[in-house]
Amino acid sequence: MSNEQILKTSKLTKSFGNLIAVNHVNLEIYKEEVVGLIGPNGAGKTTFFNLITGLEIPDEGQVVFKGTDITAIPPHKICQLGMSRTFQVARSFTEMSVEEVIRVGAYNRKKEKEVQEKVDWVIKFFELEDIRNYKCSDLGLASLRKVEVARATATEPDLLLLDEVGAGLTSTELFRLMSEIKRLNQETKITICVVEHVMQMVMGLCERIFVLDAGELIAKGVPSEISNNQRVIEAYLGRRGYSESSSAS
Ligand SMILES: Nc1ncnc2c1ncn2[C@@H]1O[C@H](COP(=O)(O)OP(=O)(O)OP(=O)(O)O)[C@@H](O)[C@H]1O
Ligand SMILES: [Mg+2]
Repeated sequence: MSNEQILKTSKLTKSFGNLIAVNHVNLEIYKEEVVGLIGPNGAGKTTFFNLITGLEIPDEGQVVFKGTDITAIPPHKICQLGMSRTFQVARSFTEMSVEEVIRVGAYNRKKEKEVQEKVDWVIKFFELEDIRNYKCSDLGLASLRKVEVARATATEPDLLLLDEVGAGLTSTELFRLMSEIKRLNQETKITICVVEHVMQMVMGLCERIFVLDAGELIAKGVPSEISNNQRVIEAYLGRRGYSESSSAS
């Protein structure tokens, strides 16, 4: 991790009606690090990604990416500037082949003649050679998730945001995917921010972790600080206590 910031948010806020989904969040991500964004369901993690990638307009606050104020800039422009993301819902490109999906990503920052080179590099990196001509609708969940990460990587991001790319995978599949994400960071120096529910994976993969609860950033630090943080423990246990009592009624 370098000491140069790639992303900084100040007082970032978004409400939906009376609900404050993201509440005055100040955080900074440094170049080349892998950071985790965690928090109970509904904590505001996806909304935070939506705000920094331009899918949602903040009510208040600012997003600075690579020294440029990108608050409320349209998503495709932010992607061209070098921020890319995966989406929580998979199966968006069902009729396309694996290679076609990755090609769509590669057109983001590459000219026609460099696109194939990028596509080939990404396919090789993620070991997708055997399935490059498969239709996405024919893939299992683990492959589909890998293709989604590969598509986002093909856009040539400086900052890659991964929203629960491991959801629904077996622990072996999840471990493999996380190893690939780690290798991607080590070999390409792409800065990566992951939202992931499996705590063991977040702790193993991330250098630093941010914790959101009910829209507020309640903690940030290295994994050992986070796992011993009283507010974090309460946020998770409190939510579990709530869902247990609500499902019992
Ligand atoms: N477009 C929207 N309209 C209304 N409410 C929304 C909208 N998007 C999110 N919310 C609400 O904002 C809160 C934060 O949602 P968000 O999806 O950001 O949480 P999350 O941390 O990603 O949760 P999960 O872990 O379940 O994916 C939730 O209460 C959610 O219901
Ligand atoms: Mg989410």
